[in-house]
Amino acid sequence: MLWFLLELLQLLLPPQPASLGRNVFGAQLPLTLPDDCVRPTSTSKVPDYFDTTIDQYAGPTATGTAPWLAQTNAAPFMGISYIPNTPLETQAPIPNNPTNANIFERMANLSPYFPNPRGFGVHEYPIPPGSNVTWLNMVHRHGARYPEAHGRELLLAQKITDAMGKYTAHGPLSFLNTWTNVLGAEILVPVGKQQLFDSGVLHYYQYGHLFPNNGSRIVARTTTQQRMKESAEYFLAGFFGLGWTANATLEVVIEGRGFNNSLAGYQACNRSSWGLAYETVLEWAKVYLVDAHERIKSNLTGDLDWTLEDTYNAQALCAYETVAVGFSHWCTLYTAPEWSAFEYSLDIGFSAGSGFLSPIGRAIGVGYVQEVLARMTHQLLNSPDPPSQINTTLTNNTDTFPTQQNLNLDFSHDANIISILTAFGLTQFADYLPTTSILHNRSFILSYLEPFAGRLDIEIIQTPKPVNPRRATTSNTGDNGLYLGGGPTKYVRFLLNQRTIPLGKSLEKCGDRDDGWCEMATFLDVQREQIELANFESACFGDWDDINYGDVRDGRPPQSQKKQSTILFGE
Ligand SMILES: *[C@@H]1O[C@H](CO)[C@@H](O)[C@H](O)[C@H]1NC(C)=O
Ligand SMILES: *[C@@H]1O[C@H](CO)[C@@H](O)[C@H](O)[C@H]1NC(C)=O
Ligand SMILES: *[C@@H]1O[C@H](CO)[C@@H](O)[C@H](O)[C@H]1NC(C)=O
Ligand SMILES: *[C@@H]1O[C@H](CO)[C@@H](O)[C@H](O)[C@H]1NC(C)=O
Ligand SMILES: *[C@@H]1O[C@H](CO)[C@@H](O)[C@H](O)[C@H]1NC(C)=O
Ligand SMILES: *[C@@H]1O[C@H](CO)[C@@H](O)[C@H](O)[C@H]1NC(C)=O
Ligand SMILES: *[C@@H]1O[C@H](CO)[C@@H](O)[C@H](O)[C@H]1NC(C)=O
Ligand SMILES: *[C@@H]1O[C@H](CO)[C@@H](O)[C@H](O)[C@H]1NC(C)=O
Ligand SMILES: *[C@@H]1O[C@H](CO)[C@@H](O)[C@H](O)[C@H]1NC(C)=O
Repeated sequence: MLWFLLELLQLLLPPQPASLGRNVFGAQLPLTLPDDCVRPTSTSKVPDYFDTTIDQYAGPTATGTAPWLAQTNAAPFMGISYIPNTPLETQAPIPNNPTNANIFERMANLSPYFPNPRGFGVHEYPIPPGSNVTWLNMVHRHGARYPEAHGRELLLAQKITDAMGKYTAHGPLSFLNTWTNVLGAEILVPVGKQQLFDSGVLHYYQYGHLFPNNGSRIVARTTTQQRMKESAEYFLAGFFGLGWTANATLEVVIEGRGFNNSLAGYQACNRSSWGLAYETVLEWAKVYLVDAHERIKSNLTGDLDWTLEDTYNAQALCAYETVAVGFSHWCTLYTAPEWSAFEYSLDIGFSAGSGFLSPIGRAIGVGYVQEVLARMTHQLLNSPDPPSQINTTLTNNTDTFPTQQNLNLDFSHDANIISILTAFGLTQFADYLPTTSILHNRSFILSYLEPFAGRLDIEIIQTPKPVNPRRATTSNTGDNGLYLGGGPTKYVRFLLNQRTIPLGKSLEKCGDRDDGWCEMATFLDVQREQIELANFESACFGDWDDINYGDVRDGRPPQSQKKQSTILFGE
């Protein structure tokens, strides 16, 4: 029951301003609105939101130990043909892995970026001849980072460090006898910078044509947090080159408790469902980690009170150490099925924390959805209707919210992007995830939705005539029923981690199209309904009762309230 005490401790700890509302499994914290908070101005005349040198809202920035993979890499591994590291060492043999699954693609939001390998249920189709991709709205997660400063992984690291010398580890765990914490906190690790640079290069190949090559700059948006700002900068360096400041102005929106920021929408919300999410994750951990926990405990003697929650957090240390220093001994302690179950634990966590199983899932993402609709229709946002967490000081003018830009590049967080997908009403990701066994047939696989550096690309495609929804039956040469009768038409296409999300699967009016696109006029109609559903004000500021896991399936508070006492930790 130590995790109960740890959880309780978290609830009692004084709030740490820089990480409030973002510490993924953090406690629910009340919102204090900033009283006209003015950021310190630099000596330059640049307004605060264009000044990338102010670090007041940068958050914690602890750097970790310098890697020494030449020394620490355990490769080559017995019985495995040697493959040089690229740069991470991910070849270590995983027990019980007959299909040779790559566990680094089973780490949910802690997976290093990889394109979605299975798609979202539709094939990809090329742009029909005579049609053009004319517009992009990208929202990109930051790259791989150290754990959160006040998160549970660093608490475990501290606990081990404190017990050093008082315990002895044996067998596969013997590395723990000389283990030291090499992790910093919050900021990008080297491979996280590479992920963003690579994505900038990729996006230049995809969309370079959309940059107005007439000497004007575009505005790109990120938040003040260090890893957010740097992610945007590395991306832009990849897209334009090191001289990117000639091509883009980076707008940094304040990320701090109480501030309106559609890229960190939870900061303006007085409710959180991460407490419930973490309880639910632990329910599942108690199921799938029984064996692993026994194995680890049996390899420990002496004075280290190793709990099941430690076994859970140590699994995450594998992910964090690997991206921080290139290799981690923790990884091979867990079997392949335990890695699938770890992925599933975070599917549960994020569904309940920011997706359709959260009463504020839609509310957190709704401001961003409104901004996308405004850009699509070339409008400013003076007073969003319905109200949401948009900072209208920034969206009420074209200097900070250009409405004619064809290339819109934004940067955000994993939980926030999950809420954006939720606010768009993509109910195909609304699976109810039981905590007793893995629901294998599910759409919500966080590894495919928001790995480190995950990205959602929303395109507008202009066509001379309507495109046949039965793309599978036509060729792409245009002489085979590819176009139907009618005039010029615009389509919206969603690509998440390089695969199309079929919009008609969730938004019925978009129709059952082979290519997953949605006519833009229909899309705008449908989305006007979706933003109402989010119910931002009552979700974030209403006094609805606490709920149990599973009570909410549509990303918004229960409509008919029944009083329920929240039973913490089941037993
Ligand atoms: C936020 O919630 C707390 C505690 O539930 C409450 O005291 C406070 O008034 C709320 N703040 C706002 C801005 O609604
Ligand atoms: C450059 O092109 C963009 C997009 O076509 C347009 O909005 C902008 O006004 C142009 N700027 C100049 C300086 O011509
Ligand atoms: C970026 O701006 C520089 C300087 O104006 C220009 O030479 C370069 O072509 C621009 N990059 C792109 C991709 O248009
Ligand atoms: C909106 O952004 C401006 C510019 O950075 C900032 O001064 C202001 O405090 C923000 N307002 C809210 C409510 O977040
Ligand atoms: C360590 O655990 C393994 C199982 O993972 C077990 O086979 C071995 O006997 C244990 N070693 C010691 C010294 O307890
Ligand atoms: C911030 O959001 C609140 C809630 O919707 C709104 O009342 C307020 O006007 C917003 N402030 C700004 C500067 O946009
Ligand atoms: C935008 O908002 C700011 C601050 O809320 C206000 O001072 C300004 O007049 C507004 N500008 C427009 C064009 O509405
Ligand atoms: C998997 O789930 C989808 C959507 O819920 C359903 O249509 C399909 O029949 C399921 N497949 C299996 C094999 O259960
Ligand atoms: C696509 O772009 C080409 C070249 O600019 C143009 O001739 C054509 O009319 C465009 N088609 C549509 C449907 O916008």
